[in-house]
Amino acid sequence: MRPEPAPLPTADPIADHVTITPSVLYVGTPVALLSTLNPDGSTNISPMSSAWALFDRVVLGLTASSKGRENAVRERELVINFPTPDLWSRVEALARTTGRDPVPRHKVRIGYEFEPEKFDRSGFTPLASEIVMPQRIAECPIQFEAEVMDVHEPGGEWPGERPEAYQIIEARVVRVHAHRRVVIPGTNHIDTARWSPLLYVFRHYFGTGPDLGRTFKAEA
Ligand SMILES: Cc1cc2nc3c(=O)[nH]c(=O)nc-3n(C[C@H](O)[C@H](O)[C@H](O)COP(=O)(O)O)c2cc1C
Repeated sequence: MRPEPAPLPTADPIADHVTITPSVLYVGTPVALLSTLNPDGSTNISPMSSAWALFDRVVLGLTASSKGRENAVRERELVINFPTPDLWSRVEALARTTGRDPVPRHKVRIGYEFEPEKFDRSGFTPLASEIVMPQRIAECPIQFEAEVMDVHEPGGEWPGERPEAYQIIEARVVRVHAHRRVVIPGTNHIDTARWSPLLYVFRHYFGTGPDLGRTFKAEA
């Protein structure tokens, strides 16, 4: 049964807002684990959440110092793996690590460690990809193999001191793998009653709640 819609606010909606300056603007996006190929042929895993999809493209925002960005730009290919909420502690096990050696100075200051074996560190299982070289993460029910189409520089002037340089990677998804338990049998549709992304909300991990309804374009 669908929950009742939330009641309309009774107070003045303009007076109910205050101006704030939050340190991040992460209102809630799915966590993605980016697999990229290291120069020695091993696979690096980078947790990320600044990613969105339109048609067959996924756009990824990655800080300049991350090994994942360096690998993706050099090799022009990657895998975007989507974990479920129960995997959050494995994601967090990677949070203070980097595949970059030496560890960039700003990351040393907050306790990051060089970790060349991200699968071992997190307990995730590697799975060969079909089109690209970086391995997939078996535990993630949805995985996108993708090729890098373009790398964009952020536009405009930065107000004040820029926290860290970053790039925007535009990738074309060339193969989608979905675990059969999240696919409606015999179709190309994800069963939204069974699939649930892990969300990153103002630096906290969340799962999703019940289905609230569908948009008019939904096919399943
Ligand atoms: C949940 C989560 C989301 C993150 N989102 C991003 C992101 O969208 N972009 C980014 O550049 N870094 C993001 N990070 C930070 C990177 O994971 C971090 O820089 C890490 O050291 C990258 O690993 P690498 O250097 O091996 O690529 C996120 C970290 C966590 C734990």
